[in-house]
Amino acid sequence: MSDDSRPSRPEPRTALRTAAVIPAAGRGVRLGPGAPKALRTLNGTPMLIHAVRALAASRAVSLVVVVAPPDGAPEVKSLLDAHALPDRTDFLVVPGGESRQESVRLGLDALPPDYDIVLVHDAARPLVPVDTVDAVVQAVRDGAPAVVPALPLADTVKEVEPAAAPGDPEPVLATPERARLRAVQTPQGFDRTVLVRAHETVTGAVTDDAGMVEQLGERVVVVPGHEEAFKVTRPLDLVLAEAVLARRRLNDGF
Ligand code: C5P
Repeated sequence: MSDDSRPSRPEPRTALRTAAVIPAAGRGVRLGPGAPKALRTLNGTPMLIHAVRALAASRAVSLVVVVAPPDGAPEVKSLLDAHALPDRTDFLVVPGGESRQESVRLGLDALPPDYDIVLVHDAARPLVPVDTVDAVVQAVRDGAPAVVPALPLADTVKEVEPAAAPGDPEPVLATPERARLRAVQTPQGFDRTVLVRAHETVTGAVTDDAGMVEQLGERVVVVPGHEEAFKVTRPLDLVLAEAVLARRRLNDGF
Protein backbone atom coordinates (compact mmCIF):
# COMPACT_ATOMS: atom_id res chain seq x y z
CA MET A 1 0.00 0.00 0.00
CA SER A 2 1.46 3.35 -0.95
CA ASP A 3 1.56 6.21 1.53
CA ASP A 4 -0.99 8.09 -0.60
CA SER A 5 -3.72 5.46 -0.14
CA ARG A 6 -3.55 5.50 3.67
CA PRO A 7 -6.26 7.44 5.45
CA SER A 8 -4.70 10.72 6.51
CA ARG A 9 -4.02 11.02 10.22
CA PRO A 10 -6.11 13.54 12.10
CA GLU A 11 -4.11 16.63 13.02
CA PRO A 12 -3.09 16.67 16.66
CA ARG A 13 -5.75 18.84 18.32
CA THR A 14 -3.04 21.04 19.80
CA ALA A 15 -2.24 22.22 16.24
CA LEU A 16 -5.68 23.79 15.90
CA ARG A 17 -5.54 27.58 15.67
CA THR A 18 -7.64 29.69 18.00
CA ALA A 19 -9.19 33.10 17.37
CA ALA A 20 -11.12 35.22 19.87
CA VAL A 21 -14.15 37.34 18.93
CA ILE A 22 -14.85 40.16 21.40
CA PRO A 23 -18.30 41.75 21.01
CA ALA A 24 -17.90 45.32 22.24
CA ALA A 25 -20.76 47.06 20.45
CA GLY A 26 -23.18 47.39 23.39
CA ARG A 27 -24.20 50.78 24.80
CA GLY A 28 -24.11 49.59 28.40
CA VAL A 29 -27.18 51.58 29.47
CA ARG A 30 -27.31 49.88 32.91
CA LEU A 31 -23.95 51.51 33.68
CA GLY A 32 -25.51 54.97 33.36
CA PRO A 33 -25.03 57.69 30.72
CA GLY A 34 -21.68 58.11 28.95
CA ALA A 35 -19.44 56.41 26.39
CA PRO A 36 -20.21 52.89 25.11
CA LYS A 37 -19.47 50.50 27.97
CA ALA A 38 -16.37 48.92 26.40
CA LEU A 39 -14.74 52.34 26.07
CA ARG A 40 -15.21 53.31 29.74
CA THR A 41 -11.93 53.27 31.61
CA LEU A 42 -10.74 51.15 34.52
CA ASN A 43 -7.73 52.74 36.22
CA GLY A 44 -7.29 54.94 33.14
CA THR A 45 -7.34 52.13 30.53
CA PRO A 46 -10.48 51.37 28.44
CA MET A 47 -12.31 48.21 29.53
CA LEU A 48 -11.98 46.89 25.98
CA ILE A 49 -8.17 47.10 26.11
CA HIS A 50 -8.17 45.15 29.39
CA ALA A 51 -10.39 42.50 27.72
CA VAL A 52 -8.23 42.32 24.57
CA ARG A 53 -5.07 41.95 26.69
CA ALA A 54 -6.73 39.25 28.81
CA LEU A 55 -7.45 37.12 25.73
CA ALA A 56 -4.16 37.89 23.97
CA ALA A 57 -2.36 36.80 27.17
CA SER A 58 -3.17 33.21 26.20
CA ARG A 59 -0.45 31.74 23.97
CA ALA A 60 -3.19 29.70 22.27
CA VAL A 61 -4.90 32.82 20.90
CA SER A 62 -3.26 34.11 17.72
CA LEU A 63 -6.02 36.44 16.45
CA VAL A 64 -8.40 38.79 18.29
CA VAL A 65 -11.39 40.19 16.37
CA VAL A 66 -12.94 43.19 18.12
CA VAL A 67 -16.55 43.97 17.19
CA ALA A 68 -16.88 47.75 17.59
CA PRO A 69 -20.00 49.89 17.93
CA PRO A 70 -21.56 50.19 14.42
CA ASP A 71 -20.18 53.72 13.88
CA GLY A 72 -17.10 53.30 16.08
CA ALA A 73 -14.70 51.01 14.19
CA PRO A 74 -12.14 53.75 13.32
CA GLU A 75 -12.11 54.93 16.94
CA VAL A 76 -11.58 51.38 18.23
CA LYS A 77 -8.79 50.80 15.67
CA SER A 78 -6.93 53.89 16.92
CA LEU A 79 -7.49 52.77 20.50
CA LEU A 80 -5.83 49.40 19.80
CA ASP A 81 -2.96 51.18 17.99
CA ALA A 82 -2.44 53.48 20.98
CA HIS A 83 -2.03 50.66 23.54
CA ALA A 84 0.71 48.07 23.95
CA LEU A 85 -0.46 44.62 22.79
CA PRO A 86 1.50 41.40 22.26
CA ASP A 87 3.38 41.22 18.91
CA ARG A 88 2.58 37.54 18.39
CA THR A 89 -1.18 38.25 18.19
CA ASP A 90 -3.05 39.65 15.16
CA PHE A 91 -5.90 42.12 15.64
CA LEU A 92 -8.93 42.96 13.46
CA VAL A 93 -11.72 45.46 14.08
CA VAL A 94 -15.17 45.13 12.47
CA PRO A 95 -18.37 47.15 13.01
CA GLY A 96 -21.07 45.44 15.11
CA GLY A 97 -24.84 45.21 14.93
CA GLU A 98 -28.08 45.86 16.78
CA SER A 99 -27.93 42.80 19.06
CA ARG A 100 -25.08 40.91 20.70
CA GLN A 101 -25.96 37.93 18.52
CA GLU A 102 -25.63 40.00 15.33
CA SER A 103 -22.34 41.49 16.57
CA VAL A 104 -20.89 38.01 17.18
CA ARG A 105 -22.03 36.86 13.72
CA LEU A 106 -20.30 39.86 12.11
CA GLY A 107 -17.14 38.94 14.03
CA LEU A 108 -17.37 35.32 12.82
CA ASP A 109 -17.83 36.52 9.21
CA ALA A 110 -14.47 38.33 9.47
CA LEU A 111 -12.48 35.23 10.53
CA PRO A 112 -9.85 33.99 8.08
CA PRO A 113 -10.29 30.31 7.05
CA ASP A 114 -7.38 28.83 9.01
CA TYR A 115 -8.92 29.08 12.49
CA ASP A 116 -10.65 25.98 13.87
CA ILE A 117 -11.43 27.09 17.43
CA VAL A 118 -13.29 30.29 18.28
CA LEU A 119 -13.61 31.94 21.66
CA VAL A 120 -16.37 34.49 22.18
CA HIS A 121 -15.63 36.89 25.01
CA ASP A 122 -17.63 39.86 26.32
CA ALA A 123 -15.67 43.11 26.38
CA ALA A 124 -17.64 43.65 29.58
CA ARG A 125 -15.57 40.93 31.34
CA PRO A 126 -12.22 42.74 31.24
CA LEU A 127 -10.47 40.88 34.06
CA VAL A 128 -10.82 37.21 33.11
CA PRO A 129 -7.61 35.42 34.19
CA VAL A 130 -5.50 33.73 31.50
CA ASP A 131 -5.85 30.35 33.25
CA THR A 132 -9.61 30.47 32.61
CA VAL A 133 -9.02 31.28 28.91
CA ASP A 134 -6.53 28.40 28.64
CA ALA A 135 -8.87 25.94 30.38
CA VAL A 136 -11.64 26.73 27.87
CA VAL A 137 -9.30 26.31 24.88
CA GLN A 138 -7.99 23.02 26.28
CA ALA A 139 -11.48 21.59 26.73
CA VAL A 140 -12.30 22.38 23.05
CA ARG A 141 -8.98 20.85 21.98
CA ASP A 142 -9.92 17.78 24.02
CA GLY A 143 -13.00 17.35 21.82
CA ALA A 144 -15.92 19.32 23.31
CA PRO A 145 -17.82 21.22 20.57
CA ALA A 146 -18.81 23.96 23.05
CA VAL A 147 -17.30 24.93 26.41
CA VAL A 148 -18.59 27.40 28.98
CA PRO A 149 -16.77 28.65 32.11
CA ALA A 150 -19.21 28.94 34.99
CA LEU A 151 -19.48 29.22 38.77
CA PRO A 152 -21.90 27.79 41.34
CA LEU A 153 -24.47 30.30 42.63
CA ALA A 154 -24.32 31.99 46.02
CA ASP A 155 -27.98 33.05 45.89
CA THR A 156 -31.02 30.83 45.66
CA VAL A 157 -32.85 31.53 42.38
CA LYS A 158 -36.64 31.81 41.90
CA GLU A 159 -38.52 31.55 38.64
CA VAL A 160 -41.30 34.17 38.67
CA GLU A 161 -44.18 35.44 36.59
CA PRO A 162 -42.72 38.85 35.63
CA ALA A 163 -44.71 41.79 37.03
CA ALA A 164 -46.93 43.81 34.68
CA ALA A 165 -45.62 47.07 36.22
CA PRO A 166 -42.13 47.61 37.70
CA GLY A 167 -42.11 47.12 41.49
CA ASP A 168 -45.33 45.03 41.65
CA PRO A 169 -45.05 41.76 43.61
CA GLU A 170 -44.21 38.83 41.32
CA PRO A 171 -45.72 35.36 41.90
CA VAL A 172 -43.07 32.64 42.33
CA LEU A 173 -43.47 29.72 39.92
CA ALA A 174 -40.56 27.48 40.98
CA THR A 175 -37.30 27.21 42.93
CA PRO A 176 -34.71 25.28 40.87
CA GLU A 177 -32.29 23.18 42.95
CA ARG A 178 -29.38 25.58 43.53
CA ALA A 179 -26.68 22.89 43.54
CA ARG A 180 -27.49 22.09 39.89
CA LEU A 181 -27.32 25.72 38.68
CA ARG A 182 -24.27 27.55 37.31
CA ALA A 183 -23.73 31.22 36.50
CA VAL A 184 -22.20 31.34 33.05
CA GLN A 185 -19.25 33.53 32.05
CA THR A 186 -17.06 34.06 29.00
CA PRO A 187 -14.88 33.29 27.07
CA GLN A 188 -17.06 30.52 25.70
CA GLY A 189 -15.11 28.23 23.37
CA PHE A 190 -16.33 26.46 20.23
CA ASP A 191 -15.46 24.26 17.38
CA ARG A 192 -15.75 26.92 14.68
CA THR A 193 -18.02 24.94 12.32
CA VAL A 194 -20.49 24.24 15.14
CA LEU A 195 -20.68 27.91 16.19
CA VAL A 196 -21.08 29.12 12.61
CA ARG A 197 -23.90 26.57 12.05
CA ALA A 198 -25.60 27.79 15.25
CA HIS A 199 -25.46 31.40 14.07
CA GLU A 200 -26.81 30.40 10.64
CA THR A 201 -29.74 28.37 11.93
CA VAL A 202 -30.84 29.50 15.41
CA THR A 203 -33.12 32.52 15.57
CA GLY A 204 -34.86 34.20 18.49
CA ALA A 205 -33.57 35.88 21.60
CA VAL A 206 -30.52 34.25 23.20
CA THR A 207 -28.21 35.66 25.85
CA ASP A 208 -25.17 33.49 25.16
CA ASP A 209 -23.60 31.63 22.26
CA ALA A 210 -23.56 28.26 24.02
CA GLY A 211 -27.35 28.51 24.30
CA MET A 212 -27.54 28.60 20.49
CA VAL A 213 -25.33 25.51 20.24
CA GLU A 214 -27.57 23.73 22.78
CA GLN A 215 -30.50 24.39 20.44
CA LEU A 216 -28.63 22.49 17.71
CA GLY A 217 -28.56 19.48 20.04
CA GLU A 218 -24.75 19.61 20.33
CA ARG A 219 -22.95 18.78 23.57
CA VAL A 220 -22.09 21.81 25.70
CA VAL A 221 -19.85 21.36 28.76
CA VAL A 222 -19.03 23.58 31.73
CA VAL A 223 -15.52 24.12 33.12
CA PRO A 224 -14.73 26.07 36.30
CA GLY A 225 -15.02 29.84 35.82
CA HIS A 226 -13.37 32.51 37.99
CA GLU A 227 -14.79 35.19 40.26
CA GLU A 228 -12.64 37.82 38.49
CA ALA A 229 -14.38 37.02 35.18
CA PHE A 230 -17.49 38.89 36.39
CA LYS A 231 -19.40 41.10 33.97
CA VAL A 232 -19.16 44.85 34.50
CA THR A 233 -22.84 45.79 34.28
CA ARG A 234 -23.76 48.28 37.01
CA PRO A 235 -21.86 51.26 38.52
CA LEU A 236 -20.75 49.21 41.57
CA ASP A 237 -19.04 46.71 39.24
CA LEU A 238 -16.66 49.50 38.13
CA VAL A 239 -15.60 49.98 41.75
CA LEU A 240 -15.06 46.22 42.16
CA ALA A 241 -13.06 46.00 38.90
CA GLU A 242 -10.74 48.82 39.97
CA ALA A 243 -10.28 47.13 43.36
CA VAL A 244 -9.29 43.87 41.62
CA LEU A 245 -6.76 45.76 39.47
CA ALA A 246 -5.33 47.48 42.57
CA ARG A 247 -4.98 44.10 44.32
CA ARG A 248 -3.22 42.62 41.29
CA ARG A 249 -0.81 45.54 41.18
CA LEU A 250 0.00 45.04 44.86
CA ASN A 251 0.39 41.27 44.51
CA ASP A 252 2.52 41.04 41.40
CA GLY A 253 3.51 44.54 40.37
CA PHE A 254 1.23 44.17 37.29
O1 C5P B 1 -25.70 43.63 27.05
P1 C5P B 1 -24.76 42.60 27.56
O2 C5P B 1 -24.12 43.01 28.85
O3 C5P B 1 -25.30 41.20 27.59
O4 C5P B 1 -23.57 42.60 26.49
C1 C5P B 1 -22.56 41.61 26.52
C2 C5P B 1 -21.49 41.97 25.50
O5 C5P B 1 -22.07 42.04 24.18
C3 C5P B 1 -20.85 43.33 25.77
O6 C5P B 1 -19.44 43.19 25.65
C4 C5P B 1 -21.44 44.23 24.69
O7 C5P B 1 -20.56 45.26 24.25
C5 C5P B 1 -21.70 43.24 23.55
N1 C5P B 1 -22.77 43.69 22.62
C6 C5P B 1 -22.48 43.83 21.26
N2 C5P B 1 -23.43 44.28 20.38
C7 C5P B 1 -24.66 44.61 20.82
C8 C5P B 1 -25.00 44.46 22.21
C9 C5P B 1 -24.02 43.98 23.09
O8 C5P B 1 -21.34 43.58 20.84
N3 C5P B 1 -25.54 45.11 19.95
